[in-house]
Amino acid sequence: MGIHFSQPAQQAAGFALRRSDFGENFKWGVSVAAYQVEGAHTVDKGPSIWDVFSNKRGNIYLNHHGNIACNFYNGYRDDLQLMRSLHIPNFRFSLAWSRIMPTGRYPVNQKGIDYYNYLIDHCLELGIEPWVTLYHWDLPHALELKGGWTNRDIIGWFKDFVEVCVKNFGDRVRYWMVLNEPMVFTGAGYFLGIHAPGKRWMKNFIPAVHHAALCQAEGARVVKSLRPQAEVGTTFSGSHIEPYRHTERDRKAAQRIDALLNRLFIEPSLGLGYPVADLPFLKRIDKYYKSEDDHLLPFNYDFIGVQVYTREMVSHTWLMPFINADLVKANKRKVPTTLMNWEVYPESIYHLLKQYARYEDIKKIYVTENGAAFTDTVQDGAVHDPQRKQYLQDHITQVYRAKGEGVQVEGYFIWTFTDNFEWAMGYHPRFGIVYVDFATQQRIIKSSGHWYRDFLKE
Ligand code: NOJ
Repeated sequence: MGIHFSQPAQQAAGFALRRSDFGENFKWGVSVAAYQVEGAHTVDKGPSIWDVFSNKRGNIYLNHHGNIACNFYNGYRDDLQLMRSLHIPNFRFSLAWSRIMPTGRYPVNQKGIDYYNYLIDHCLELGIEPWVTLYHWDLPHALELKGGWTNRDIIGWFKDFVEVCVKNFGDRVRYWMVLNEPMVFTGAGYFLGIHAPGKRWMKNFIPAVHHAALCQAEGARVVKSLRPQAEVGTTFSGSHIEPYRHTERDRKAAQRIDALLNRLFIEPSLGLGYPVADLPFLKRIDKYYKSEDDHLLPFNYDFIGVQVYTREMVSHTWLMPFINADLVKANKRKVPTTLMNWEVYPESIYHLLKQYARYEDIKKIYVTENGAAFTDTVQDGAVHDPQRKQYLQDHITQVYRAKGEGVQVEGYFIWTFTDNFEWAMGYHPRFGIVYVDFATQQRIIKSSGHWYRDFLKE
């Protein structure tokens, strides 16, 4: 597999931008998530839904799991040193709830707190700004046994967890993101069942969506009330959506998918309610909706994190109940793809930034993830990954284009630093700018990593 540049136009001309073109305050960084890198799955920690899910045969590609992953739990000092050698000034990582509260609730595990204290302190010692995601999908398993995201009690559980985190780390952490991609963890984990906890169908999805939307705002309120000076945001997955054919049916199908993938979580957070007009099945949320939720759903975030990887083309189909729309896979469309079979379409990030910038109340946007998986091979001790470098450069160029047109985009984070555990796909897709030999835990900076260093060093 790998990238297939069937259209020569995709082989863009040289990258002319410099770091200074984005201004001094633009935040450049890399992002990771606890379960994808930490490993040490039984050390000072309770099980999370991902520990349980990935250790069950048949759930993950080749039965891979995150038990060891990149061993970041033990080796974070070396990885941070490597990050510094690449001149990366901002590091986004998540806190594993099940390390801090092994059952998801009190008591707090001091060793978990200690670990994140070391990690945060070490970042600061190296001049790296820590950006903390409070929830990147690894719910404590004990809470899942009580219904997880389908149980409204999760609002209280989550607020307690956030409070513990902010009280312990808020003196040193300025940037907080409440949830990572709620659409993905509710959709894949509670509707499709292909991510932890492997639940399915509307009866799980609908309450999970509503409770995640509430937790997003409630978590942000906790951060801000304890640390008014903090910058609080939350992150959304998004893709530019287009109809596959120029027909009214496909156009309407694309509109529904846009509501599902791009609007479902951001609109209630902005006080616009759920996009029920385009997705009538969302009326089912009424069953879980309390009168106070009108006030609880919105929050005035300091920033929105946007995570874009590809574009989606949508066709109408009667086969998908509720939505009557299907995503036309990239290989079927014969377009350039990454190893995820995601189309390489840099303009998507430009269009999505413009789309989100049209909402009135967004103060600032950070691209909190963007990156690509390709087949990487080690040759003579080096990893040459020109496609990833091209991908990153083309996307950064589109971010610059949006910024030039007035979009308040103030940062860009590469997904990801080291190759890591890519959820249901295991270790097969490598997204890192640093290669990991998972048998030896050896790291090799890929040529894309060298390029990022040179770009940042300027
Ligand atoms: C989004 C998720 O936040 C991250 O965990 C994942 O690895 C990347 N996208 C790539 O799929």
